[in-house]
Amino acid sequence: MIILGIETSCDETGIALFDTKRGLLGHTLFSQIEMHREYGGVVPELASRDHIRRIVPLISQALTKTDYTLTDIDAIAYTQGPGLAGALLVGASVGAALGFALNIPAIGVHHLEGHLLSPLLSTPAPQFPFIALLVSGGHTQLMRVDRVGQYQLLGETVDDAAGEAFDKTAKLLGLGYPGGAALSKLAEQGRPGRFKLPFPMRHSGDFNFSFSGLKTAVLTLIHQQPKDQQTYADIARAFQDSVTTVLIEKALAAVNESGLNQLVVAGGVGANRQLRHQLTEKANTSGITVYYPELEFCTDNGAMIALAGALRLEAAGFNKEAQKASTGSFTVRARWNLENITCTKV
Ligand code: KG4
Ligand code: ZN
Repeated sequence: MIILGIETSCDETGIALFDTKRGLLGHTLFSQIEMHREYGGVVPELASRDHIRRIVPLISQALTKTDYTLTDIDAIAYTQGPGLAGALLVGASVGAALGFALNIPAIGVHHLEGHLLSPLLSTPAPQFPFIALLVSGGHTQLMRVDRVGQYQLLGETVDDAAGEAFDKTAKLLGLGYPGGAALSKLAEQGRPGRFKLPFPMRHSGDFNFSFSGLKTAVLTLIHQQPKDQQTYADIARAFQDSVTTVLIEKALAAVNESGLNQLVVAGGVGANRQLRHQLTEKANTSGITVYYPELEFCTDNGAMIALAGALRLEAAGFNKEAQKASTGSFTVRARWNLENITCTKV
C-alpha cells in the first residue's frame, strides 16, 4: 500500500510517499522559517498562504523524485490537527480533494501521533509498548504508547513547551527566531556550573513540567551580568542544563515506573545534542534503550504523517476496494487531545 502524507499544521509544508512494504520512498519539505523570522514568530495568515503556494509543486516533486505517479497512490493521510486552523485547512482540503479525484481514502492524522511514531521510520525501530517523550515547539508530554492509536498521557507541561522555552530564551540572548538550535550551539561553547538556574518541578513527584519561569530567571541573569559572548554562552549552557536535566530525569522515571525498557524521543527538541547524549548515557546504565527519529524527522515533516496514516490504515485492516473513498469533505481540529483518538476511526 502506498500512502501520500501531507503535513501543513504550522510553518513547514511536508510531503512524503510511504510504502507499507518498502518503507519511506521519499519526501519533500519546505520550511517557512525565513519568512516568519522578521516577525519574530509564526504569522498564521502568512503561513496558510505559503502552504497554498507550495503544496502542489511539492507533491509533484515528491512523485518525480520517487518515480511514482498519482495513480500509484492507495490512500492519503493529511494532518487534521492540532495546529493553526488556516494552515491545517490547506493540507486537509488538498488531501480530501485529491482522494476524491483519485477515488481513494483520505484520512486525517493527529500531528503528535506522527511525531510519536516517527522513530519507527528508523532502524532499529522500537517495539510496542514504549514510553514516549514528546518535546516540540508546542508540546511537552510523556506518553505511554501501547499500540497504534492507544496513547496514555502520563504528564505534560503546565505552561510553556520545551521548544517554546528554547525559542523565548534564545530571543532574550539575541539569537533570533526560532532560536532552539542556535541556543543549543551557543550552549556547547558555554561552561557548565558558572551559573545555576532553577530545575523547575524536578521533585514534583509527577510527570509534569514547567518551563515558563526559566526565561524570567535568564532575563534576570542577563541584566546582572556583563554582556560578552562567553557570559551569554555560559547562560545558554545553564538554561540547557536545567531543561535537559528535568526532561531526562522525568522521562527515565516514567520508563522505570511503567516497567518497560524502551523510550522514544520525538519532536524538534529531540534534535538537541546534549539531550541525546546525556539521555542515552543515563538510560543505558539502567538498561533502557532510547530511540530517536533521524534528525531530519525530528521537526515537522510529511514522512511521519504518511507513516502514521499507513499504520492506522493497516491496523484497521486496509482494503482498497472496501475502504470508502474520500467524499471531498473534511474537518480540521486546531485543538485536539491525542488521548481522544482511537485506531478504529479511519
Ligand atoms: O516539532 P517541531 O517542528 O515543532 C512543533 O511541532 O511544535 O519543533 C520545533 C521546535 C522549536 O521550538 C525549535 O526551537 C526546537 O524545536 N528545536 C530545538 C533544536 N532544534 C529545534 N530545541 C533545542 N535544541 C535543538 N537543537
Ligand atoms: Zn510538530
